[in-house]
Amino acid sequence: MRAALDVWVVAEAFDPAEPRDDHGRWSLLRAVRNAVRTDDGDAQGRLRKAKTGTAAKRATASSDGFLPGSDGYHTKDTVLTESQVGAYQRAAIRLNRRLRTSGPPAGPQFDSEGVAELSAEDVAFGALEAMMGHPKSALRDDISVERGVQDPTHVFGDAWRSDGDNTGLTWEDAAFVSTSTSGQTAEEFARLGIEGHAPLVMTVLAPKGIHAIRFGVHGSIPQYNAEDEVVLDRGLRFRVIADHGLGADGIHRVDVAVIGGPDK
Ligand SMILES: NC(=O)c1ccc[n+]([C@@H]2O[C@H](COP(=O)([O-])OP(=O)(O)OC[C@H]3O[C@@H](n4cnc5c(N)ncnc54)[C@H](O)[C@@H]3O)[C@@H](O)[C@H]2O)c1
Repeated sequence: MRAALDVWVVAEAFDPAEPRDDHGRWSLLRAVRNAVRTDDGDAQGRLRKAKTGTAAKRATASSDGFLPGSDGYHTKDTVLTESQVGAYQRAAIRLNRRLRTSGPPAGPQFDSEGVAELSAEDVAFGALEAMMGHPKSALRDDISVERGVQDPTHVFGDAWRSDGDNTGLTWEDAAFVSTSTSGQTAEEFARLGIEGHAPLVMTVLAPKGIHAIRFGVHGSIPQYNAEDEVVLDRGLRFRVIADHGLGADGIHRVDVAVIGGPDK
């Protein structure tokens, strides 16, 4: 398990020389390079058997379960206050963009007086890293969750084929990945896209053992509950295991499996 204070060590371990594409997105190069077809029979079987919907939500290791006084951040007794959680949510969106472009925040900067300058992204990063490093955030079962993507080329770059079969596309996401146990929530997010390709909904097999958090009803702002959100760890590798193409509802659907991630 990674202790909260080790977060900044992880940040320093990031290699800024990591290859990037023209837009600075290092994960996309991998998607293109790894766009190969592979046999994923086992993953498809596991996806069919995985817990979905409310069963997935229950199976998700929950931050509700962190004991009061433990090093978890969300507990039934609310370690973070509501306003801190609200600030965290706004910062988390900026944090994800940063993780995908220039890597983890550098952490607090201390001036000559020893006074720390701490950004909202630093706080969000510290909270998420601590929760993902907690043993209780390891999934107890295979679960299936949904993720809406407004424009698939933001994830896959030129490797995406809107009218072809994208099975085998593999990518790594440097950011924390927002998903939902509700297909409707994922669809709503996917449809927020305003131009370009048809929106994409991924049904994601998140296997037992990877780290993921859902936000509890106590101390979390209501939006998290309304979205049925499950946040997957950063640094996971994914593969498209089936492409169902464009549906009559205007949404392109794929099945995806998490095929690897950071050791914890
Ligand atoms: N997307 C969902 O299905 C979903 C589900 C539940 C809650 N939410 C909530 O919505 C908010 C935004 O979610 P989101 O999924 O749009 O956030 P995100 O940070 O994953 O995506 C934001 C933007 O980043 C880009 N992007 C996404 N994946 C990328 C990748 N692999 N490589 C490069 N760029 C990539 C895209 O342009 C995308 O529009 C979250 O804060 C979360 O609370 C979203």
